[in-house]
Amino acid sequence: MSRSAPQLHVLPDQAALFHAAAARVLELGAQAIAERGSFHLALAGGTTPQGLYALLSSAELAGRLDWAKVHLYFGDERGVPPEHRDSNYRMVRENLLAHLPVAPQVHRIAGELPPEQAAADYAALLHKQLSAAGFDLILLGLGPDGHIASLFPGSDALNQRKQPVVADYVPKLDSWRITLTLPVLNHARHVILLVSGAHKADVLRHVLHNISHANPLPVEMLRPKGQLEWFVDAQAARHIEHRADPA
Ligand code: 6PG
Repeated sequence: MSRSAPQLHVLPDQAALFHAAAARVLELGAQAIAERGSFHLALAGGTTPQGLYALLSSAELAGRLDWAKVHLYFGDERGVPPEHRDSNYRMVRENLLAHLPVAPQVHRIAGELPPEQAAADYAALLHKQLSAAGFDLILLGLGPDGHIASLFPGSDALNQRKQPVVADYVPKLDSWRITLTLPVLNHARHVILLVSGAHKADVLRHVLHNISHANPLPVEMLRPKGQLEWFVDAQAARHIEHRADPA
């Protein structure tokens, strides 16, 4: 699979971003299931994707994908139990899983375990569940500091070239995270970045207009073997030249 140029989709507002991203997820899911019998999708955590997950599991769209053939994974998890308010699994359960007509196979990161153990267990699960081709699609958000998943600027986790999953203590958050590493992210057939809100405008300008490769931000180290697509709203794109997608 050849690496093609990243595609930038600028939508007029967050609702339009969720609809456009949902349409692409459903398209890639149907294609994966038709071609390979299953869809291996890694979900983003945080706040932005909540509206996308709610839309994907809405009455309007939930029937558009054969969820029984979908395997759901996590790009990262906080070092907390699944009921904790910070748990990405809890957020996904509340916004997506609770409303799906058919239960997909869900492979959560065991944030309640000691972080190194959770990372080792998840790496073993990925080895068992994923073919050599890796994920069909990985959804990612973007932090204002340029982090993706739980790969933060300056972290040793960014230098990991062998382990697919690592545990990392994030000093500025005073919290442990378990995260997929760049080799796994870059091995995916598709990666979608979801960026919404004025508070992401500076980092988006830096990434899309930045030509120097000295001290790249984590998101600038993302070079998937397949297709990288940005779904951003006009607020996040306010500093960049763009032609807005139709809503
Ligand atoms: C997490 C996410 C993280 C998130 C970014 C953006 O566990 O929080 O994996 O990488 O995607 O921090 O977060 P928002 O979408 O909430 O702005």
